[in-house]
Amino acid sequence: MPLTKPPLPRLLLNNVSCIRKGQIVLRNINVSVHDGGALVLAGPNGSGKTTFLRMLATFSRPSAGEILWNGHNINSPGVFDQYKAELGWMSLKDAIKEKATVLENVLFWELLEGKYGKSKKAIELMGLGQLMNSKAKFLSMGQRKRLQLARLLAVDRPIWLLDEPSVALDAEGVRLLEYIIAEHRKRGGIAIVATHLPIEMEDAMTLRLPTRFPRRNSLYELMEK
Ligand SMILES: Nc1ncnc2c1ncn2[C@@H]1O[C@H](COP(=O)(O)OP(=O)(O)OP(=O)(O)O)[C@@H](O)[C@H]1O
Ligand SMILES: [Mg+2]
Repeated sequence: MPLTKPPLPRLLLNNVSCIRKGQIVLRNINVSVHDGGALVLAGPNGSGKTTFLRMLATFSRPSAGEILWNGHNINSPGVFDQYKAELGWMSLKDAIKEKATVLENVLFWELLEGKYGKSKKAIELMGLGQLMNSKAKFLSMGQRKRLQLARLLAVDRPIWLLDEPSVALDAEGVRLLEYIIAEHRKRGGIAIVATHLPIEMEDAMTLRLPTRFPRRNSLYELMEK
């Protein structure tokens, strides 16, 4: 019987380290993600979760090691642009245009992507149907988060990089987030999610980054001084 090679992971971090201002933030990270996979980044404040996502988003480069997409370094010429076109990015900086309506905020990105037809459905799915024509500046925190998720759905890219996506969402919003991640994965999409809050994701791998800033004083010591 001929031996078949295991499939190449879609994403592979090979001994990746990251130094910021002379300090090692991430050390020797090895992790692989296949189509339909999910990776949860956990760890305390300052442990490097956002740094990890920013490297995957190509906003910064690893100081050592390499990030491979289909076996190719994401930062190499010829690969960089193709890889970037695969990414759906969501972070605390929401890049929402305040004076534009909810619909315009989603449609803009969908059209930029050369796509059309998903924006309204995505907004409705995220529970913002009644606010379709409202200006974004009037949205609440959780509604802004839902708008970001609608944008992610309308743009419809295969690799989602989500930084604290559930912050400010109510319980129904978190269920919706879990639902869209599950559906995305069923279609072969990947979700990489930094979070402090529990988000249900079946068979997700968890990468727990270690504490970088141990607490030195107790509250009692502080109050005594
Ligand atoms: N561009 C930069 N220059 C200098 N230091 C940086 C830079 N980016 C990140 N850091 C440092 O790297 C460390 C990790 O930051 P990061 O934002 O990745 O943590 P995090 O795990 O996402 O934390 P949180 O849970 O608070 O979101 C922090 O100490 C931060 O100050
Ligand atoms: Mg962070």
